[in-house]
Amino acid sequence: MAGRQLKELFRAFHARDELAFRRAAQEIIEEEEGKHHYALARDLQRLLAGAGRADVAAVTILPDPPKDREGDWPLAEVREAQRTLEDLVLSNRVQVLFSELAEEVRRWQELDRAGIPRRQRLLLQGPPGCGKTSAAEALAGELGWPFALVRLDSVVSSYLGETASNLRRVLDFANEARFVVLFDEFDALGRSRDDSSEHGEMKRVVTAFLQMIDSYRGPSLLMAATNHPGLLDTALWRRFDEVIEFPLPTVHDLRRLLRVRLRSVPHDKIDIEDLASRLRGLPHAAAEKLVWDARRLALLAGRPKVTTDDFSAAYDAVRARPW
Ligand SMILES: Nc1ncnc2c1ncn2[C@@H]1O[C@H](COP(=O)(O)OP(=O)(O)O)[C@@H](O)[C@H]1O
Ligand SMILES: [Mg+2]
Repeated sequence: MAGRQLKELFRAFHARDELAFRRAAQEIIEEEEGKHHYALARDLQRLLAGAGRADVAAVTILPDPPKDREGDWPLAEVREAQRTLEDLVLSNRVQVLFSELAEEVRRWQELDRAGIPRRQRLLLQGPPGCGKTSAAEALAGELGWPFALVRLDSVVSSYLGETASNLRRVLDFANEARFVVLFDEFDALGRSRDDSSEHGEMKRVVTAFLQMIDSYRGPSLLMAATNHPGLLDTALWRRFDEVIEFPLPTVHDLRRLLRVRLRSVPHDKIDIEDLASRLRGLPHAAAEKLVWDARRLALLAGRPKVTTDDFSAAYDAVRARPW
């Protein structure tokens, strides 16, 4: 470890400069990775993320999120990842790909040295409620990196010029330290493109954004999620290193999800098979809500066990609502 990095750590500590501290810490971690000290690098990354010790986690300070020009509102929500991939029921393909990516991202430096391109820009697509946002957060959790969630509607300004500079600000932020950055509901950008009055302007914003993503050389992993693949034109796809499908769950997936969510819940011999087949065609989020709703009904009625009737009542409500 170079003296310069140590000095920078100490300086940042005294200046309470969280971002500078992270930058210096990150450099040290990368250096250790460069020396193939993966176990040490991973431990350092975890410590930086505040994982491992409850008392440390409680005081982890995260950098302030990037703000819009006036500094009025945050452009991203920056948080410690609360999920792991194990919490999720994912298709085999996604499960394998995400595990691969977690390993690969830790070894980016090796890829760099071998001249093999990193997969650093990922597009997640599929119907709402099938785990895109959750999986991005879970990947951050696997890596021990903070999760920066960018909701496109908080970036899109009524002044289109501002939209592009907001996006620039987020990417500048992602240049400072390692984050898993998710541009969520990414199609919000594409969607406004058909509005004739703003069409040309918005097209320019989309183009500018894609170029920003394309030329990004920072330390973060960039992800974008969309529910409406049809709204993105082919120029968009090509900018991403990987396009990952999050399909609706199969009945088998729904069964697994129900089983996991009911594992520690006392219930009255609920027929999980039957429930899963009745949920066919609905997203994972619907199955999750069903369990919460049934548990809520039981609790409020003072029943110690969730009953089949609780599930029937909850089922009707879940079915009736749009997903
Ligand atoms: N594949 C999944 N496995 C387990 N839970 C899921 C899955 N997909 C969604 N959920 C649950 O549904 C909710 C919404 O999921 P989210 O990740 O926001 O979906 P999306 O981003 O695809 O719309 C989350 O609270 C999550 O717990
Ligand atoms: Mg989402």
